[in-house]
Amino acid sequence: MAKTVSVSTFRFLPFTLLLLPGLFRLSAAIYTPIREYSGNEFFSEWDYYGDIDNTTWGNVDYVDQSTGASQRLTYIDPNTNHAIIRVDNTTNITAAATVNRNSVKITTKDAYPIGSLVIIDTWHIPYGCSVWPSFWMLGTNLLWPNSGEIDIIEAINNLDSNQYALHTTSGCFLGTNSIQSGSILQTNCSTGAGCVVQEKKPNSFGSGFAQAGGGVFATQLDVSGIYMWFWPRGSLPASISQANSSSPMNLADWGTPTAAYLSNACNITEYFQPQQLIIDITLCGVWAGVPSIYNSTGCSGQCIDNVIGTGNPIYNNAYWDIAYIRTYLATATTTVTTGNTSVSPASLTSASPASASTSSSSGANDANANAATAASTLVHSLSWSSWLCALVLLGILRFC
Ligand SMILES: *[C@@H]1O[C@H](CO)[C@@H](O)[C@H](O)[C@H]1NC(C)=O
Ligand SMILES: *[C@@H]1O[C@H](CO)[C@@H](O)[C@H](O)[C@H]1NC(C)=O
Ligand SMILES: *[C@@H]1O[C@H](CO)[C@@H](O)[C@H](O)[C@H]1NC(C)=O
Ligand SMILES: *[C@@H]1O[C@H](CO)[C@@H](O)[C@H](O)[C@H]1NC(C)=O
Ligand SMILES: *[C@@H]1O[C@H](CO)[C@@H](O)[C@H](O)[C@H]1NC(C)=O
Ligand SMILES: *[C@@H]1O[C@H](CO)[C@@H](O)[C@H](O)[C@H]1NC(C)=O
Ligand SMILES: *[C@@H]1O[C@H](CO)[C@@H](O)[C@H](O)[C@H]1NC(C)=O
Ligand SMILES: *[C@@H]1O[C@H](CO)[C@@H](O)[C@H](O)[C@H]1NC(C)=O
Repeated sequence: MAKTVSVSTFRFLPFTLLLLPGLFRLSAAIYTPIREYSGNEFFSEWDYYGDIDNTTWGNVDYVDQSTGASQRLTYIDPNTNHAIIRVDNTTNITAAATVNRNSVKITTKDAYPIGSLVIIDTWHIPYGCSVWPSFWMLGTNLLWPNSGEIDIIEAINNLDSNQYALHTTSGCFLGTNSIQSGSILQTNCSTGAGCVVQEKKPNSFGSGFAQAGGGVFATQLDVSGIYMWFWPRGSLPASISQANSSSPMNLADWGTPTAAYLSNACNITEYFQPQQLIIDITLCGVWAGVPSIYNSTGCSGQCIDNVIGTGNPIYNNAYWDIAYIRTYLATATTTVTTGNTSVSPASLTSASPASASTSSSSGANDANANAATAASTLVHSLSWSSWLCALVLLGILRFC
């Protein structure tokens, strides 16, 4: 079972305000770093799936940790210190009833509650015909999709734009009035595709992404909504380009998100439980391999024909190159200005509950907590959100 992270200094939620009635959004949250997945320690905090792809039914065998290491499907590049996660591109697979090629699916040992921020800096995302990579988050407490799924990086074949999506049970939607820069493809989060937003910035996926030096994707999981950003390598905000693993993160220079799933159309606390991070690469399967989709995403012939044979050169680009993944939890916030009114959430701290510190005494650098602390964190989230939501009734804030 996943541990849910918490932080002893957790006080209140990121102060993301939505002005009534325009839904104009200002981010001024400060986040405390919880963990960096990077370098030689990258793979130590993940579990390897070690089974077939029994969720998206691709033609892969997801290897265990020792096979991943011995076949160099997961390793640290000694030159860059980046984590490499890739599909086998040497084994000669013969046509047969079951045609599976070795690949990787890994899941973090930690689960991140509402109030978390996740930043991934990657130089290469797997691409090519039949290739279906994903960096995503999944609530694992209940049967899918009862505790929610957040797809942060996902596309297929020769598509050149990333797609973001949520998957939930019935009743969660992407509101059409969100302030976001991406294109809405689907608004109903309980459909098979989920509620999907497509990136409009260039070079968010495929060969273009790799040639531009990759970039950074960020996801904010907040009671007010779930927000996702992308910046290509050449235009990272200073808050990210100048940060190291121990820097607090301030979202003030992040700009408009690509995707903004606001809580006015999807009650985040109702549909999302603590989320584990997952990185995988499948081949073909129920999206990339559907003949009509395969054919309309820049590929000809049959998907399975890529898997058969040595996989060379088609899978030479089927790899992730990840500089780091950093995770954060909301802590103190700066003064937020909404319209002509300044609000200082610091005035709220005197009433801040502090019981999280009793079960996680070693602080943010050792913030893995047991389920009890996880529950406590969530209780904090809910109590603060309820409290702040009460202000909505007074017409002061829009916070839920
Ligand atoms: C996939 O297989 C794993 C391991 O056998 C199992 O725990 C899991 O429940 C399966 N998932 C689905 C969706 O069938
Ligand atoms: C792969 O195996 C097939 C049949 O098993 C064989 O015809 C083919 O020559 C092999 N390819 C390589 C590169 O060895
Ligand atoms: C959303 O999708 C679900 C699943 O397909 C469906 O049951 C529901 O009626 C849809 N809701 C709306 C408002 O279209
Ligand atoms: C991160 O940057 C801060 C501020 O520049 C510096 O004080 C700190 O030592 C750095 N930490 C690491 C781990 O590099
Ligand atoms: C959102 O869901 C939470 C948890 O189920 C619930 O307590 C809260 O009342 C809901 N908020 C709204 C506005 O429906
Ligand atoms: C997709 O299928 C159509 C009809 O069979 C064909 O003309 C077209 O060339 C195919 N597209 C690709 C990219 O192979
Ligand atoms: C397999 O792909 C990697 C890049 O992921 C490349 O470095 C290597 O040369 C490829 N192997 C072969 C046999 O081409
Ligand atoms: C802010 O103040 C300006 C000038 O006093 C006024 O025109 C504007 O309507 C105000 N905006 C809001 C949101 O109150």
